[in-house]
Amino acid sequence: MSTAAMPRPTLWGGEIATIEKKPELLQMEGISAETINNHWKLYEAYVGKWKAIEEQLKGTDLASANQIYSDWRALKTDWTFAVGGVKNHQLYFSNLGGDGSAPTGKLGQYIDAEWGSYDAWKADLKATGMAGRGWAWLAYDWETGRLANYLGDAQNTYPVWSATPLVALDVYEHAYWADFGTDRAGYIDAFLANLDWGWIEQHAEATGILNGAWYDQR
Ligand SMILES: [Fe+2]
Repeated sequence: MSTAAMPRPTLWGGEIATIEKKPELLQMEGISAETINNHWKLYEAYVGKWKAIEEQLKGTDLASANQIYSDWRALKTDWTFAVGGVKNHQLYFSNLGGDGSAPTGKLGQYIDAEWGSYDAWKADLKATGMAGRGWAWLAYDWETGRLANYLGDAQNTYPVWSATPLVALDVYEHAYWADFGTDRAGYIDAFLANLDWGWIEQHAEATGILNGAWYDQR
């Protein structure tokens, strides 16, 4: 099998590291630099815990694994939380720092095909973010051939197999409390107004979504 078309792994071989912090993240309307800097520290902590848990798993007795309580269970459960915490935040910070203008490329056409308009997609994602306890994601499901907004209650709940997330909206209080208090809706509006669709389209292109989506074949 040829591997030429496979995208390069970004978290390859245990070299798990934080992404570069875009300067634009510290100059956004609505979401303050202080919030971003504090949020970034939480993201760094997920990176550290991912590595630490992998090390601890190496020294844990497999024979003691037990579903009621065991070190193996605790580490395996929280490993998915740490891995999710890294991947979700990498996407979240990569998504931001733009001017929020509507996507103009192929991805924008797919969004229009699925929701009818960019505004309708935004309303759907906002409602999903209001209903979630941790995350809302725009993702492309390779098996249905469709985009969808999915809800997550934590870093590691409700992932959909074979779906590639493109937008990650963090709705944990730490993402907005200092700037918006209880006004989560205001925060989600600010998130949408700072989306970087140039990056999101590029990311979708790199994963191959824009080359084979069924929206092109209808
Ligand atoms: Fe977060």
